[in-house]
Amino acid sequence: MSGISQLESWLNAGLSSAFGEAAAGTSLHVQPATDTAFGDFQCNDAMALAKKLRRPPRAIAEAIVAALPADAAPASATIAGPGFINLKVSSDWLAAELDRAATLPAAGEGRTVVIDYSSPNVAKPMHIGHIRSTVIGNALHRIFLALGYKVIADNHIGAWGTLFGIIIKGYREFLDREALERDPIEELQRIYVESYSRTKAADDATEEQKAAAAAWLDACRMETVKLQQGDPDNRALWQEFIRLSLGEFDKTYARLGVKFDTARGESYYQDQLAGVVESLEKAGLATESDGATIVDLKEDGLDVAIVRKRDGGFNYTTTDIATVATRVRDYAPDEMIYVTDERQQLHFKQFFHICRKLGIVPEGCELKHVWFGLMRLPEGVISTRQGNLIKLETLLDEAERRARAIIDASGKEMSEDDKARLAAQIGIGAIKYADLSHDPQTMVTFTWDKALALEGNSGPYLQYAHARICSLLDKYRAAASGSNPETSALILDDPVERALALHLLKYPGAVLRAAESCRPNVLADYLYALSQCYSSFYQRFPILKAEPAVRDSRARLCLLTARTLRAGLDLLGIEAPERI
Ligand code: ARG
Repeated sequence: MSGISQLESWLNAGLSSAFGEAAAGTSLHVQPATDTAFGDFQCNDAMALAKKLRRPPRAIAEAIVAALPADAAPASATIAGPGFINLKVSSDWLAAELDRAATLPAAGEGRTVVIDYSSPNVAKPMHIGHIRSTVIGNALHRIFLALGYKVIADNHIGAWGTLFGIIIKGYREFLDREALERDPIEELQRIYVESYSRTKAADDATEEQKAAAAAWLDACRMETVKLQQGDPDNRALWQEFIRLSLGEFDKTYARLGVKFDTARGESYYQDQLAGVVESLEKAGLATESDGATIVDLKEDGLDVAIVRKRDGGFNYTTTDIATVATRVRDYAPDEMIYVTDERQQLHFKQFFHICRKLGIVPEGCELKHVWFGLMRLPEGVISTRQGNLIKLETLLDEAERRARAIIDASGKEMSEDDKARLAAQIGIGAIKYADLSHDPQTMVTFTWDKALALEGNSGPYLQYAHARICSLLDKYRAAASGSNPETSALILDDPVERALALHLLKYPGAVLRAAESCRPNVLADYLYALSQCYSSFYQRFPILKAEPAVRDSRARLCLLTARTLRAGLDLLGIEAPERI
């Protein structure tokens, strides 16, 4: 039985022996203390029992406390105010619980969750707007796995649509082969932009120029139609674009330590789209409007969703409906989570609603859109629409460069390889933590100074805290040969030591809350608070110089802290090197 429920059953034993039948059907609840000056945990239920037991709350609390089984008592109980029961847990109880807290509860056992994240678009560079989806999605991926869920991480790559006709036409007309070899996505993007601009004529263009633009647009449309009808040449080109783009994306994922279980992408569902629209029509959900097929959701306050365009093409919504049906069939998930930026909120509300109306989501299967605010750089919002594209690659390079400068400035003796590896661990950890330490739904302004700060709530700060504990433990092992910090008895008499131990106990709860709310920042907050508890502890006591039994106990607290920091950072996708 885990910590709090153990305390609860102890209190409940007191309740039933004090009040017998009169208290039947009631059970007492315990929560962490709001003010640790009075205890570690508290129970506030005496107040609510006054009516049922026909006694003043304080008398009820006193009777419960007087009747608590004294044998192997996990805590000492005192009463405060109108009838609060405060519990100060024993060192033995804390020590035993600490051993347990290292393992996370298997809260997700038997449950399956699909997480759709990152999902960049083929032939376009992955820009910094995608970083939040990749970083938040990957943290959720890791957190759900750690809690025992079966996770299917699906990278829903955008690889379909009219865009391809535009690129195919441009590719045939003005490809720069050398540039393609050097930087495939950059060249595909250039071709796209150039070809797209040729479909447009300025207002003051000559008739001839206007005719040329219209002809170019027609030619692009033809290429899209040919692609969709399976023309072998266009198919081959399209496949080549996907291959080249995935190759580039994979380099970024390798740097970020991100792995997917599958990357079916939009094109996987193409054969199902006509069927989706048909079933919407059969169910009486879709109607014709101005040549297009739409689902009118105005009555539900969700506007109108187009499922087939006037030119007969299907779109993002149609594909996402097919995605849900396919995932239900293939994985029977209990939950489907999508991570994208805030601009897609209406899209997700619409197709979630349509899927429910269509009856393709089983009862009890949750659909969640985890949206995040766009990240701001001091220079402005990072968004393709505004044109100031900052590429993810560039951002990661810059992070490593800056981390490297800090390492060089520290003057530590280290091999070139070690320096490069450390720069990647710190630089990328800093970027990830700067993102994950904020509620996804707030607007983040990213600054290098904050992200790479060695003090304060930053990734490097937590990495340093972890590495410092590791080096302290090395010294301890050298000084106290024969002692094993894994098994040393814990002596937890001082309030600062107790505070650290109690905070360590809250780790599983923080991971659970991060999963339930789909907010990795809950875990980041926990880890930062842990580093604060540790730092008070470290500043207050000598560790290596204490007398042996106390020293061994403190070394064990250090070990547990380092382990929890490392485990928590790992769930955020951040590495924790042992030496910095
Ligand atoms: N490719 C889309 C974009 O870059 C994100 C896709 C998200 N997933 C989904 N199933 N709609 O905006």
